[in-house]
Amino acid sequence: MATRQYWRLDARPIEHDYANALSLQTEELAPPADGHVQVAAQYLSMDPGVRVWMTAREDGYSPPIPLGEAMQGQFIGRVSASAHPDFKEGELVRGFGHWASHSTVDPALAGLTKLDEDVADTRQHFGVLGLNGETAMCGLTDVLELKEGETVLVSAAAGATGSVACQIARNMGCKVIGIAGADDKCAWLTQELGVDTAINYKTQNVAEELAKIEGGINVYFENVGGDLLDAALPNMALYGRIGICGLITGYTSDSGNPGPARFDQILMKRLTIKGIFLPDYLAQGKNYYAPLRKWYDEGRLVGEFDQTDGLENTLNAFTRLMTGKNTGKVIVAL
Ligand SMILES: NC(=O)c1ccc[n+]([C@@H]2O[C@H](COP(=O)([O-])OP(=O)(O)OC[C@H]3O[C@@H](n4cnc5c(N)ncnc54)[C@H](OP(=O)(O)O)[C@@H]3O)[C@@H](O)[C@H]2O)c1
Repeated sequence: MATRQYWRLDARPIEHDYANALSLQTEELAPPADGHVQVAAQYLSMDPGVRVWMTAREDGYSPPIPLGEAMQGQFIGRVSASAHPDFKEGELVRGFGHWASHSTVDPALAGLTKLDEDVADTRQHFGVLGLNGETAMCGLTDVLELKEGETVLVSAAAGATGSVACQIARNMGCKVIGIAGADDKCAWLTQELGVDTAINYKTQNVAEELAKIEGGINVYFENVGGDLLDAALPNMALYGRIGICGLITGYTSDSGNPGPARFDQILMKRLTIKGIFLPDYLAQGKNYYAPLRKWYDEGRLVGEFDQTDGLENTLNAFTRLMTGKNTGKVIVAL
């Protein structure tokens, strides 16, 4: 009898205590039903957004994962069995399924995508060429309408999404300021990614550093929220734009993030604040892969990985992500 291993959500986690909320299970692996595809995962993507789905919050963009069900997330893998005419056994694909050795999915619901095999490092289909890269591209171009010569601020700048946002802004001829939580992350940003200034929010006064930017910040790509948003607001340029891509400071909470204390600056600086949500733009037929791939092939877009090996170590990988231990994309290799 074929089996699969998967992580089951047993309880709503408290802060970052994942070991008492999830357990590794084994179950029978049935063949895919008509119209479905079964994928053997090679890599799992660790994404902060799934932390919100672990809570009981009903007001997110996705409902809470019911207790007793498999933990959801993105995979890259090969089709191991198919009952769908568009997918063949052995094809390399990415989609939304489970934190599991195998996921059996409806391709339309899972966003199942065939991947280019000519990318030497398959892992880049997460991160730079995947959801994080596409989100950064969508946010900076279509949501924030970034223009050459503008000053761009990025928080969680050394993470998967932030590091791509920094490089896109640099490639578009902008001045880039990145905020991260460690000196080695800041050094990577300035020395490897061409970021103009990096600020360590754990050792520096962010508001004071941002106040030194001549002309202020035109565009803020926000991944974090909380104190960093309050540090940025008074230092925005007149008519500045803020894209809320993520608010990781509030993801463990059942009630979300409180509003910024410097809300007044939206009026004083006549700011525009918009949410960034990639699926809205994909539904409009937008294709962000092509420009990302071009920059990647030219060596103008690089992606680092924070890789953990073994499905059984998934919770360590997720904890690394949620506590800022990572530089670049956090993945689990199976
Ligand atoms: N809207 C969308 O469609 C979409 C899609 C993908 C991702 N996102 C969002 O983008 C953000 C980044 O996601 P990612 O996958 O690229 O993860 P990531 O940036 O690779 O990892 C998360 C980073 O957040 C920072 N962080 C964690 N807790 C923090 C805290 N309490 N205060 C400040 N910073 C904290 C850490 O870096 P440092 O502390 O060292 O800076 C950590 O490395 C998340 O908010 C995520 O939800 C949104």
